[in-house]
Amino acid sequence: LLGDSVKVDGVTYPTDSLTNISPRVLSKVGQNLHREHGNPLYLIRKRIENYFYKNFVNRRGNPIFSIYDNISPVVTLEQNFDSLLVPEAHVSRAPSESYYINSDYMLRAHTSAHQRDLIRSGLNAFLVIGDVYRRDAIDATHYPVFHQVEGVRLFSQNELFTKVRDSTNLSIFETEGKRMPDKQEDHSMEAAKLLEHSLKNTLMGLALHLFGRDTEARWVDAYFPFTHPSWELEIKHQGEWLEVLGCGVVEQKILQSAGIQDQVGWAFGLGLERLAMKLYSIPDIRLFWSKDSGFLSQFDVSDPDTPIRYKPISVYPQCINDISFWLPASTDTAFCVNDFYELVRNIGGDLVEQVYLIDEFFHPKKQRASHCYRIVYRHLERTLTQEEVNVIHAKIEEEAKRLFRVEVR
Ligand code: PHE
Repeated sequence: LLGDSVKVDGVTYPTDSLTNISPRVLSKVGQNLHREHGNPLYLIRKRIENYFYKNFVNRRGNPIFSIYDNISPVVTLEQNFDSLLVPEAHVSRAPSESYYINSDYMLRAHTSAHQRDLIRSGLNAFLVIGDVYRRDAIDATHYPVFHQVEGVRLFSQNELFTKVRDSTNLSIFETEGKRMPDKQEDHSMEAAKLLEHSLKNTLMGLALHLFGRDTEARWVDAYFPFTHPSWELEIKHQGEWLEVLGCGVVEQKILQSAGIQDQVGWAFGLGLERLAMKLYSIPDIRLFWSKDSGFLSQFDVSDPDTPIRYKPISVYPQCINDISFWLPASTDTAFCVNDFYELVRNIGGDLVEQVYLIDEFFHPKKQRASHCYRIVYRHLERTLTQEEVNVIHAKIEEEAKRLFRVEVR
């Protein structure tokens, strides 16, 4: 990383002013937990694959969805954003949200980054499974790397209307149509409704396959730049509504840019960690990265449908240390909270369980802001001593002073 280039996934890239990828995050590239037998993420992806393999077959009985689980997470900004019609000013493009290798390349923030290219290559139905990278808060359910499954299915007019009794006068397209809450301008109302029906049936079936026949589920309207209309699916799990996936009708412009003139389609994306944490009662997202056999052996089953409830190996005590500092005077370098989280991650690694801003105020005389963060340290596999935590905590203070020119109080 040091110097003016960085090596990611075997390729060397020049760095520039947008580069913000850290050695810690780099060390996750290539680990491919979704392909590691015995990891709970592997079990869930298998269950999802099985659902699609079993329920969607062609006349010859062959599965129609093809599966890609080995596409490099290094993508261009064009793939991650522009190919999906993400507006130039969209918040997701901010350097504080994603990991940039340089101004041209980044670690994908979602598997949707591959939609356009796979469609262009001629596929009509596919799943993409992979690691995605986002800068975010630090707590039991957030980690800078997680895993997604993307699904896309396209339909020709004949395919979409197969079950319609008399479809001779129907078209999937409409010229001079209007965009409405429930359809795009290019789509006929019939096409929009059949796509919605197909999408919702497919995904509701998946949710019930994963969580059980009696699961309560509901659709919530959503917005994504690359689908319209869009929804999220929520399921009720232990009394709480949990968002499990985002989906919608693929923007026709994306299909056109992929060279498709005569098909329409839907897409969805879901996060594997979130599903696995609920399904197996895994309390902390760091556990997916554990090499501890006490953890992994619990998921080492040959039938992915085996019911599993994670039994904590043991719970070691937390060490809690606070850090307070004055931010540099207002006109100085902008301080961004995610930069601080990043620093804590880089130094504390997986010993850090949570970081949260517990106090913030502005001193009118000094004209300076003060932040206080609480850092909760806990090792997943042994007891940490206060002495070893103090060493790490002091390093975090030093680094914060150096990088952000804060004044530790
Ligand atoms: N890419 C979206 C996300 O990461 C999920 C999504 C995929 C939504 C496909 C719609 C269609 O949140």
